[in-house]
Amino acid sequence: MKRIFSGIQPSGGFTLGNYLGAIKNWVALQKDFECIYCIVDLHAITMFQKPDELRANSRLGAATLIAAGIDHKKHKIMLQSMVPAHAQLAWVFNCVARVGWMNRMTQFKDKAGKDRDSASLGLYAYPSLMAADILVYKATHVPVGEDQKQHLELTRDIAQKFNHDYGLDFFPLTEPLIFGEATRVMSLRDGSKKMSKSDPSDFSRINLTDSAEQIADKIRKAKTDPHAVPDAPPASEEVRAQRPEAYNLMGIYAALADTTMAAVAKEHGGKQFSAFKNALTELAVAKLGPITSEMRRLEKDPGAVDAVLRDGSERCRAMADPILEEVYRIVGFLKP
Ligand code: TYM
Repeated sequence: MKRIFSGIQPSGGFTLGNYLGAIKNWVALQKDFECIYCIVDLHAITMFQKPDELRANSRLGAATLIAAGIDHKKHKIMLQSMVPAHAQLAWVFNCVARVGWMNRMTQFKDKAGKDRDSASLGLYAYPSLMAADILVYKATHVPVGEDQKQHLELTRDIAQKFNHDYGLDFFPLTEPLIFGEATRVMSLRDGSKKMSKSDPSDFSRINLTDSAEQIADKIRKAKTDPHAVPDAPPASEEVRAQRPEAYNLMGIYAALADTTMAAVAKEHGGKQFSAFKNALTELAVAKLGPITSEMRRLEKDPGAVDAVLRDGSERCRAMADPILEEVYRIVGFLKP
């Protein structure tokens, strides 16, 4: 039986990258599997967050998932800080994971920048908490965008070392689920950079809160090259790197239209980018517009959104607490 877990940080707005790389796949997976989707506020404070903004963004995160079509009654939408077992298991994992493993994490290097000494200790230990999020439910599959792959490999290493150290087959070795045509959505201004909520330029990304006019404006100004729309998907990473912006827009189109890059290339290959951008704008507004307006509606009812998080978190505590209790017994803590 597959158990799905995934998380998203409430450290700002949510982007088209979050939607196509993760949330859209989360919606699809709930048809066949038991799913837990978590707003990871403990992860968000690894970089300073203004308290009121963090609260607002946690609600916005939950509203986004509901608006995108996650069934919060059948599945769970929960807030990380409402289930203490995540942080408790993370401590145990801090003692299982090795400093050398953390030193290899590229996301830490990217986020800490040049001045690593002044990054928070939490930012450094971040992947250990992520492993705890997943394994506190013994989740087997984790749908994410490509940028989280390394963290999921570390999650397997932690599970394996824990099992080995205590001589048990306790934690599953989690599989990443990275699928769709937009597992790595790039910036609209620079096809070599990931689309990210932390990019200083708002024109680099489409936010899930953007209006139709903003979406149109951003797609119109998106960087392209002087050539026509490619007539085939990139045959290799080298080919993609020659026209990163062009293939990025094709991938976004394919993912939004629930089709393949090959089909998009067949339909639009050879056209001028100005025409393709008009089609992409129309598609993006048609697909994102309903989600944005449902988010806006939910934003006006924060009590209802909080109730969803409390209910999901309560049901998650009932799942996580017995697993944590078992871990505490395994490592040798006395029963309280
Ligand atoms: P976060 O909040 O950065 O992103 C949430 C999800 O969105 C995906 N994503 C993208 N996919 C494609 N293209 C992009 N440009 C893009 N930007 C973001 C991410 O891959 C992710 O799936 N560490 C995680 C949150 C987390 C988590 C977990 C995930 C905490 N605990 C346990 C899975 C399991 C993060 O910062 O995601």
